Amino acid sequence: MSKARELITPGSIFFAPMEGVTNSIYRTLIQELYPQWDFLATDFLRIPHQGIYPEKHILKHFGKELFSNEEMKKKTFFQVLTSSNANNSENLKVIDGMGFPWIDLNLGCPSNTVCKKKGGSYLLSDLLELKSVLEVFRKNISGIFSVKIRVGFHDDSLFDEIIKVIEGSGVDLIIIHGRTRVQLYKGVANWEYIKRAKEISQLPIIGNGDIWTVKDAQSIQQSTLCDGIMLGRGALKRPWFARDYYGNPAPSALDSVKQYLSLYHGRLVDKGLREISILKQLKRLIRYPLDDLPRGAELKKNLYLSQNLDSFFNILQRY
Ligand SMILES: Cc1cc2nc3c(=O)[nH]c(=O)nc-3n(C[C@H](O)[C@H](O)[C@H](O)COP(=O)(O)O)c2cc1C
Repeated sequence: MSKARELITPGSIFFAPMEGVTNSIYRTLIQELYPQWDFLATDFLRIPHQGIYPEKHILKHFGKELFSNEEMKKKTFFQVLTSSNANNSENLKVIDGMGFPWIDLNLGCPSNTVCKKKGGSYLLSDLLELKSVLEVFRKNISGIFSVKIRVGFHDDSLFDEIIKVIEGSGVDLIIIHGRTRVQLYKGVANWEYIKRAKEISQLPIIGNGDIWTVKDAQSIQQSTLCDGIMLGRGALKRPWFARDYYGNPAPSALDSVKQYLSLYHGRLVDKGLREISILKQLKRLIRYPLDDLPRGAELKKNLYLSQNLDSFFNILQRY
């Protein structure tokens, strides 16, 4: 039986990996404010083509705080991005030896640079390469090994085959974003593929793509029978989604956003980050949560225009 099956309660909710957002300070804050999220993902660590990533860099990327917080460590999965000609085996031995309990392989990254190097979603178009990468991963990962995929590269013609190759390579769980690489974020994610994966695979399947509300969450589970769901942009829009989902609704969106941004600001200051990088990180977080507020678009525009933290928080408090 898949090792992940024991860990995942049906209906579990996953906070998606998001490059530039889900660093360890951010995840720690989410865990403190909204511990109802069942699982949190790190953003990806890129496996180098040559040499071995030093342990201290790996720890810095994934967050050394995790090793003093068992609860966080248990609910975190650690994502890596690689390609078929990277130095996978040696790097994975080091990563595995450091005791990360759950490694996830990013097979959805659409970036041209990554795909040209035969990494990320490229591997969904080349099943021989995919198989050989998965075998190296499985051989070197002693804990849970999951993959996060799109439904194909150019189109969906290989979808069933991809699922079979993944299952045949000893992967423990599959997260599916219902779009191809070529689609990027266009249109709406198609949950039919999640349903199809449940029909043809015995592995736990986590559905991802355009889940924004609790109603969406119920609807994808009813229509696909998936084992859990993952939210990316929906989680950025409502980090408190987990409270709503488990029946303990958060206070108003505006109060929640203000609290979340000001606490995050404090954590980044404590870490000694420069004002310019703190502002950049805060601006990344306002892309979605203000959208449904009256005059939210205007507020967002003014916040984007702010040149320093004082002005950012003045605008927010005045709203
Ligand atoms: C800002 C941003 C960064 C992302 N970075 C990653 C990443 O590092 N690894 C990954 O597997 N997916 C990444 N994704 C994709 C999301 O995890 C998710 O699969 C995708 O956004 C679809 O889900 P959604 O409709 O709930 O947003 C990223 C998405 C966004 C919006």
